Order: sequence, then structure tokens, then C-alpha cells
Amino acid sequence: MKRCYLLIISALFFRFAISQSVQIIPEPESVTAKQGNFILSSKTKIVTNVPGKGTKTAVYFINYLSRFYNISPDRNKAGFHNNFILFRYENNKDTLGSYTLNVSKDSIIISSGNEEGLFYGMQTLIQLLPTTVSPTLQIPTVFVKDAPRLAYRGMMLDCGRHFMPVDFVKKYIDYLALHKFNIFHWHLTEDQGWRIEIKKYPLLTQKGAWRNGTIIGHHPGTGNDCEKTGGFYTQDEIKDVVKYASDRYITIIPEIEMPGHSSAAIAAYPQLSCFPNQDTKILSGVKWCGDSTGKQVQQSWGVYPDIYAPTDYTFKFIENVLDEVIKLFPSKYIHIGGDEAPKDYWKKSDYCQQLIKNLGLKDEEGLQSYFVQRIEKYLNGKGRQIIGWDEILEGGLAPNATIMSWRGEEGGIAAAQQHHNVIMTPGGWLYLDHSQIKNEDSLTIGGYLPIKRVYEYDPYSSKLTKEETKYISGLQANVWTEYMADPAKVEYMIFPRMAAVAEIGWTQIKNKNYDDFKIRLQNEIARYKLWGNNYCKSWDNQPDTE
Ligand code: ACM
Repeated sequence: MKRCYLLIISALFFRFAISQSVQIIPEPESVTAKQGNFILSSKTKIVTNVPGKGTKTAVYFINYLSRFYNISPDRNKAGFHNNFILFRYENNKDTLGSYTLNVSKDSIIISSGNEEGLFYGMQTLIQLLPTTVSPTLQIPTVFVKDAPRLAYRGMMLDCGRHFMPVDFVKKYIDYLALHKFNIFHWHLTEDQGWRIEIKKYPLLTQKGAWRNGTIIGHHPGTGNDCEKTGGFYTQDEIKDVVKYASDRYITIIPEIEMPGHSSAAIAAYPQLSCFPNQDTKILSGVKWCGDSTGKQVQQSWGVYPDIYAPTDYTFKFIENVLDEVIKLFPSKYIHIGGDEAPKDYWKKSDYCQQLIKNLGLKDEEGLQSYFVQRIEKYLNGKGRQIIGWDEILEGGLAPNATIMSWRGEEGGIAAAQQHHNVIMTPGGWLYLDHSQIKNEDSLTIGGYLPIKRVYEYDPYSSKLTKEETKYISGLQANVWTEYMADPAKVEYMIFPRMAAVAEIGWTQIKNKNYDDFKIRLQNEIARYKLWGNNYCKSWDNQPDTE
């Protein structure tokens, strides 16, 4: 009997010791703990088995160790019989991103049939590293088998409302990498700023990237800071960021908004408007700074009626812009926006009304559908596919479009039923601009989205049949920056909720468990601290509802 107690107690102790040290987010498919540790130090050798395969991953890991632990392991194949880390590329057809990670006392072997898998295995290994700095690191021995649940796991960053410097965009990409996301949706054009250099249209960045002030407080604001603000990414910077992401197995999907959210482009090229000579509309209650005549970049948030006129001039402009965009971004998908495009100006415009008649369209929604379909055809002709916000369902869906469902799940459900690919990004679960704590004292857009609610989300709606569910490619969280003026605020809003988004995108449903996630999250937060990230400290124990 005594022996039996002893066995139980030691088993419990062993379990406790494992749960203390093996805390991985997102939770892998299976984790089998072993006894003992691997000791990582500058003497450890880091090797690959196939020339060129896993090299980027090995370099990433070496740089990581040097940056955070001041450890410089040996990237050398000679004599790696003990204390080595091997990135083992296997010539098989593993699911994209799947891997095994075998930590033993003498070796760590990460194996995969694809380079993404080697990279994800390395990210899991990073999560096993202590969060305190020391010249020798103890890594618990463990066998991990893993694969992603969803093919598309994304996060968006809005660099239109507030320009974010390149260094931070790269940090954001590293945050995505740590959490095994594979898509960075880069929102690059807005009413409040155009952020991508387009050589053919220099005014887009000379004029459209800057505003003469920003409202203070919630829209319409209590005043205006009257500070000139803005910025843009040069094409060289974009190429650099695209490569940076690609080295981390992250695809960047650029978003070039149309026909709405285009005030900045119109400020640069007024002919894009239905009414080029009409002053920019300033929303009621907004205090304006500087010139308010002619076309201006907006200084407050919201939805604006001055949208692109569907003229030959505009279509040529968009095609020229997209020609430059697709040279910079190799992604299969280009996001063309499509949301929140009020039809007031199209209704008032004789040109638009005549066009609706000439094309035999029903109404202005039909005209937006025509607009989107024309751009889709252009991009399809260049070998690309479009993604649009769920408004592009209205007036008829473009034949090959992927839908990003943001106004709830309904748009995504309707699109999947029409056999269109869908990315679920419903505001009620995945908009990280909502407050994550009930008594939020920093300025946010409002709404309430505690981490538990994010964690509960599943993009496979029960309203879909098994066949229709196949059209749900994945999910994405969105970070709109109206009320995030700088990187520190973005970090505060994404951490730690981003960890929950990662887990619902990667982890099999059967392995999801909020209480267990919360325990593992402590370790992730310790890592955020090691990285020096800002984060929301009061995320736990928030009420479920407002
Ligand atoms: C959106 O949040 N307007 C897509």
C-alpha cells in the first residue's frame, strides 16, 4: 500500500514537473514527456542534413540564442555525435507545416518533409527554452508530434490609420512567427493615409501619406492635435519586409482598398472622385487642422462618402497601382478591400447612373460588383486571386473571390454555401481593437473582447455542412489602429490575445482546453517579457460578458 502511495505521489510530481516545463502555445497534436534535460550552450552544434534545407531556420535559431541568451552555438557539421541540434529534412509528403521534435539528453532532432515544418518545430523548441537568461539552458526532454489544423492562420495590421515603422512591422512578423501564423495581412491604404510607394503616382505618398492632424479622443473627438503625421514604405523597404516574412514562412497579403476608404488617394489625385472639384467632406463635430478646401487626407475615423468613381481613369489608375503591387508581393492573393463604401456619391453622379443603365445593372450595389469583378478579371489575368471583405457579396460575388467575413459569420457562411473560399474574421471574436478588459482605461474603439471569448471561437460554423466546411480556409484576427497610435499600444492590444488566436487556428479541437491554455499562457507571457513586449497585464479573470 505504501509503495502504491509512493508511486502515485512520484507520478503526480513527475506530471507537475512536466507541466511546469513543457508549456507550448499553440498546443501541439501530441506531447510525450520524457525524463531528463538537454543542456544547450555555446558548445552545442547546430546542423542540417540536406544542404539548403532548414538553413534559414537554423540561422534564425542561432540568431535567437545569441540575441536573447548571449549563446553562440556552433553551426558546424563536424563531430556532432553528442549535444547537437539537427534540422532533419525528410523526403516525404508530410502535411504542410507538420513536424516532430524529439528532445533527448544528447540531441534535439526536428524532422519534417517540408521547410515550414522545420521552422515550426524550431518555434516549439524556442517555447521550451527557459525564460531566464543563463549561459547554459536546460531543455526538458520530450517528444512532440504536430501539424496545423487550418491552412490559413493570419493576423492583419492596419498601417493606414497610424503608420507603423518598418522595424515594428518586422517585430510584428516575429510575433506571428512565434505563434505559428503563416499570413500577414498588411493593410496599406486608408482614408487617413496611403502607405505604399507607387512610382507611377508619386503624389500618393507625397500628399496622400500625410495628414495635418489627428482628432483627440473618440470620434468625432474633443479636439485635434494639429500635428503633421504619416509616413510610407518605399518599394525597397517593402521588398525587404516581404523577404523578412518569407524567411519566417509567412506570406504577406497586401490590401489596396477600393472603392471606399480611398480619401488619401483622392487627396493625391482628385480625378479619382465622382466630384473632383468638391471639397472633402469633414464629418460633423470633427475639429480640422490646416487647409480644408479641395481634397484632403482625413483627420478622423469612420466611413467617408468620397469613394472611387468607376471611370476609365480610375480603372487605369488601379491597374497601374496593382502592376507595381504584384511585382512587390509574390502572394497568390491580393486583398482589394470592398468594405464600407457608401453609395451616396454614386447615387448623385450622372456618370454613375448612366453607367448603371448602360451596363444593365440593377443598382449601385450592382455597380460595386461590376467594379470588383473588373479588378478580379485583371488580377486573375496576372495569375493572382482576390480577397475582399464580405460586402463584396452584395450585388453578386466575383467568380473566383475569397471572402473575409467580418460582420459576423453570415457572409462567410453564404460564401461557403456558394462554394467560395472563406477566411473567418468575425468582429465579435477576432477584432483585437476591442477592449480586452472590462474597465479599460486606455482609449480603444470600444466593444469588449476578453481572451476567453477569443479562445472559444471556432471558424467551422455548425451552420455549414461537412462539404461546405471545406471552403473555410482559416481565420484571421484584425488589428485596426484608429486608437493605437504607436507600437506599444499595438502590443498592449494584441498580447496576450494573439496567443488565443494562434491556438484556435493551429490546435485540433480535441486538444483545446481553456484552463490548460491559461497555465501555458503564463510561460508565453514570461517570454513576452524576455522579448521586452508590452502586454495587457489584467487579461485574466475578466467577466465573460460586458
Ligand atoms: C472592416 O472592419 N471594415 C473590414
